[in-house]
Amino acid sequence: MTFLGLDVATSSTKALLIDEDGNVAGVASSAYETQTPEPLWSEQDPADWWTAAQESIRTVLSESNTAPEAVDAVGLTGQMHGLVLLDERGAVLRPAILWNDQRTGAECDAMREALGKERLVQLTGNDALPGFTAPKLLWVREHEPDVYARAAQALLPKDYVRFKLTGQYATDKAGAAGTILFDLEARDWSAEVLEALELDPGWLPPTHEGTDVTGEISGKAAEATGLAEGTPVVAGGGDQSAAAVGTGAVEEGVVSISLGTSGVVFAATGRPAVESEGRLHAFCHAAPGTWHLMGVMLSAAGSLRWYRDTLAPKTDFDDLLAPAADVPAGSDGLFFLPYLTGERTPHPDPQARGGFIGLTARHEQPHLTRAVLEGVAFGLRDNFELMQDAGLARVDEARITGGGTQSALWRQIIADALGVELATVANPEGAAYGAALLAGVGAGGWPSVEAACAEVVRVTERTAPRPEPVSVYDERHALYQELYPALRSVFHEVAQ
Ligand code: XUL
Repeated sequence: MTFLGLDVATSSTKALLIDEDGNVAGVASSAYETQTPEPLWSEQDPADWWTAAQESIRTVLSESNTAPEAVDAVGLTGQMHGLVLLDERGAVLRPAILWNDQRTGAECDAMREALGKERLVQLTGNDALPGFTAPKLLWVREHEPDVYARAAQALLPKDYVRFKLTGQYATDKAGAAGTILFDLEARDWSAEVLEALELDPGWLPPTHEGTDVTGEISGKAAEATGLAEGTPVVAGGGDQSAAAVGTGAVEEGVVSISLGTSGVVFAATGRPAVESEGRLHAFCHAAPGTWHLMGVMLSAAGSLRWYRDTLAPKTDFDDLLAPAADVPAGSDGLFFLPYLTGERTPHPDPQARGGFIGLTARHEQPHLTRAVLEGVAFGLRDNFELMQDAGLARVDEARITGGGTQSALWRQIIADALGVELATVANPEGAAYGAALLAGVGAGGWPSVEAACAEVVRVTERTAPRPEPVSVYDERHALYQELYPALRSVFHEVAQ
């Protein structure tokens, strides 16, 4: 059997084929641009996703010599929280507003006012953040009434591609939860939220569990993509839940940490666990009938890349990191704050700023390097602790993925800073791989998502925490936690 995962991501769309043992049989991707017509805005043309989807599917089929009929099911994943508005004939009304767009601060306040923050968090699991979908709808209503008046359907990015593939409006429960128009416990749209915001429930597509079939490849889409007409398309999931499927974080007790441009701490939960202030995201999982908690730091490996590109350009990462191994834990009093692109969890603050704190004339470049690695590890610990302190998530195993895990030094620093053993999981294809597994379960290749993960997810390495650095980092992290509150007002002044 063969399953195809399609990831409509922020920089490109990727098509990935796997066989019934979970081996990757082919991968192809096609890139596009993001537009920033105003400061803080982030938009894309949905037509670009569809072009990229056609290209990547055609390429992966031809390069892997896969016959269209051999593909048993397609699973979708992609960037979450975006807003695609269509008119009643299914035509796109304006560019899609993306997850990293920051224009909706006032609309988030309006949402808290309309529902009360406590009720909002209770119902949806989340506070209103500018990146989420709901405040974007309110923004269009306020600022583009002509567009709003013509709207008949609101979709997430990957569900626009689903519509092009199948002709059906549908979404998955993980992605739908990320709109915060969603009742987390009931796993469906929240009539109370929609009513309070005076939004039309008729604009929202039906929601499905991640492995449910939502439609089939249409004749027109078969011609456009090279897939066979009638191939089932499963709901799939938002990129974070699909990526978690690919790392096996589908059962309570397994926490996955991803060290990509952003840093994500993700815990599967068997119930709709919610952090009372809404500082952690609480969404449905792509594994049917389960939920998850998530903390997102915006600049994780992104911090290291910025540091290398700016302060050590053209230096190889290995050469840059090697001398930092000889610097003692704690970087001789130097801290790095990783808020280079603002922050999301635990400080939902687009105006947070990065910095080196505690520099003295004794510090040399390896201290700065180590401080960057440690600052990111402390940011991950903030998220990790938020989950554990509230008793929201159990940690039996912590799994780590992403480009940053290539550094043994960084893995060790993170294990020491979190005080837990880290299991490295090779999941180079990220969310697309999880989407392909969801398609596999939907097509009957595996009996459940849990069974698929147990069969295909492999731990490649384990990194145990070492007692001495653990106690140094306990102290250092307590100080690190004082820095953001102390500097918050300065950051906001500077950002003006
Ligand atoms: C998840 C999130 C990102 C986007 C883009 O909450 O905002 O993962 O989905 O990748």
